[in-house]
Amino acid sequence: MRDRWPVTWRHAITLVLIAAVPAVGLAAASAPGARGHLSAAELERVRAVTQPTADFSKPERFEAMPGGATTLRKAAGRKSFSFPAANISFGGREAFVLGEALFEKLWVSAPASTKASDGLGPLFNARACSSCHIRNGRGLAPDGQGNEGSLILALTAGAKADPVYGGQLQTRAVQGLKAEATTRTVYEAVPVRLADVTEVRLRRPAYNVAGLAHGPLGSQTWISPRLAPPMIGLGLVEQIVLSDLQALEDPHDLDGDGISGRIRWVVDPESGKKVAGRYGWKASRHSIRSQSASAFANDIGLSTTLFPAHAGDCTPFQPDCLERPHGAQPHLGPVEVPDTVLELVTAFVGGIAVPKRRDVGDAQVLEGKKLFYGAGCTSCHRPKFVTWRGKEAGANNFQLIWPYSDFLLHDMGDGLADGGGTELAREWRTPPLWGIGLTETVLGQGNYLHDGRARTLEEAILWHGGEARPARDAFAAMAKDRRIALIAFLKSL
Ligand code: HEC
Ligand code: HEC
Repeated sequence: MRDRWPVTWRHAITLVLIAAVPAVGLAAASAPGARGHLSAAELERVRAVTQPTADFSKPERFEAMPGGATTLRKAAGRKSFSFPAANISFGGREAFVLGEALFEKLWVSAPASTKASDGLGPLFNARACSSCHIRNGRGLAPDGQGNEGSLILALTAGAKADPVYGGQLQTRAVQGLKAEATTRTVYEAVPVRLADVTEVRLRRPAYNVAGLAHGPLGSQTWISPRLAPPMIGLGLVEQIVLSDLQALEDPHDLDGDGISGRIRWVVDPESGKKVAGRYGWKASRHSIRSQSASAFANDIGLSTTLFPAHAGDCTPFQPDCLERPHGAQPHLGPVEVPDTVLELVTAFVGGIAVPKRRDVGDAQVLEGKKLFYGAGCTSCHRPKFVTWRGKEAGANNFQLIWPYSDFLLHDMGDGLADGGGTELAREWRTPPLWGIGLTETVLGQGNYLHDGRARTLEEAILWHGGEARPARDAFAAMAKDRRIALIAFLKSL
C-alpha cells in the first residue's frame, strides 16, 4: 500500500523506520481468541482491573480515559469524533488522513465525465460514508415531517433478504433509473408516567413505503429501520478478547438474573468461517473491514473484493439495475473499490479516538454512576475490558477501555422489536455508551436507539423492555433528582 502514498510521506516514513520505531503498519483486523499467552500474574492483573467497582466516593483510576492511551485528551466541540488515537503511529496517522478523505468522498456514477468513473449505485442510499455517519457520529433521525434524515430500512425475510428488493431499500438511484421506493416516517406519541407523576411523551415510529418500483415487498418481508451508529473506538472493540465476551454470555440465564446475553455468530465473507459479530445494531458484522465493505455494497452500491457484485444490492429481478455500466477499471483491479481504498477507509474508521470524559469527580456524576450500577444497567452496559496484548493490535494493544457494553444480543422486548417473527426481531446488541454525552455537541441534536426514536437519554432508557425491563423500571421509579444524577453520569461519558 505504501507506494501509493505521496513521495514526501514515503520519505518521512522511511526516516521513521530508520529511527527504529516499530508498528508503522495498520492495526491487525483479526479478532483475537483467548488469552493463553499471558502469565498467571498478568491474567490476575487483568481480572482485578476489570472488576466492577463498589466505591462511588471518588472516580476510579483511569476512568477519565475511556480509550486508554488512545483517548483524545483535548476538548474538540463538534469535532469530538474526528481525531485519531492519541498514541497512533506515524504511518497510522497518514493512513487515517487518507482514509478520512475517502470516508468523506462523494462517489459518482459510471460512466462519468472524468476518467475515474467510480461506479456509484446503480441503487444507493447515500453518496458518501459521512452522509450518514455525521461528523463520524450517528445518523440523523427522521423528523416526522417528511425529512427522512439518514435512516435506512433493512429488509429481512426470515434469515434471508427480500427476493426482489434485496437486503435494504435503496431510496436513490443513478440518473435514468427508478429508486426502489420512497419512505415516510411518522411518529405516534406514547405517554409514560414516572413515579413522581412526571409525564414523558415518547414517540413510536411507523414507516410508510410508497412507489415500490417492482411491485409489493415479499409476503414474508419485514422492515428493520437502522440509523448509523457513532464511529468512535471501533478499533478497540475489534481487539476485545473473544473469551472475555464468551465469559459474559448466559443464553439460558443459568444464573437466574433475568439477563441472557448471547454472542451472535456470523459468517466472515472472506474466510467463510463462523465469527463473533461485534458491529451493527444486531451484531451482524465481525470486523470493521467487512462492515465497511458491506456499506460500500448496500449503502453506496460499490463492489469490493468481499462483495464483488458491481450492482450492489440489485437482485436478478431488477434487470434494469443490473444492466447499468459499472465503474471497475482494469488497471486498478476487478472491483470498483480496490483493496487499498478499503484498507485506508478501514484504518480511518478503526482509528477514531474516544474522547476523554468530563466531570468524572463531580458529586452528582458519582451519585449517578452509583445509581447506574444499582439499577442493573451494568449487566449489559459492562464498564471495562482489557484489549488483546500483541504488537499486531497497534495503538489498541493491551489497553484498559471503558465502552459500557458487553457486545452481546439481548431480548429488549416488543416495544423495540422490528417484527419478523424470529427470535432476532426482539434482540439488539448492547451499544457502547462511551462518548454518548457528546452526541448533541457533535450532531446538534439527540437521537438515540437503533432507529433514533429517543430524543433524549431519558427516553432511550424508558424504551428498554424485555431483559432490561427491571432496570428501566428502577429508573422510572427514581425520584427526579436521582434520575437527573443518572443522566448527568451518562452525559459525562
Ligand atoms: C445510508 C447510510 C449509511 C452510509 C452511506 C454508510 N453507513 Fe455505515 N452504518 C449505517 C447504519 C444504518 C449502520 C448500522 C447497521 C446495522 O445495524 O446493521 C452502520 C454501521 C456502520 C459500522 C458499524 C458501527 C458500529 O458501531 O457497529 C461501520 C464500521 C460503518 N457503518 C462504516 C461505514 C463506512 C466505512 C461507510 C462508507 C463506505 C458507511 N458506513 C456508509 C449507515 C450508513
Ligand atoms: C438487558 C440489557 C440492557 C440493560 C439492563 C440496559 N440496557 Fe441500555 N441498551 C441495551 C440495548 C440492547 C440497547 C439498544 C436498543 C435499541 O437500540 O433498540 C440499549 C440502549 C441504551 C441507550 C442508547 C444508546 C444509543 O447509542 O443510542 C442508553 C442511553 C442506555 N441503553 C442506557 C441504559 C441505562 C441507563 C440502563 C439502566 C437503567 C440500561 N441502559 C440498561 C441493553 C441494556
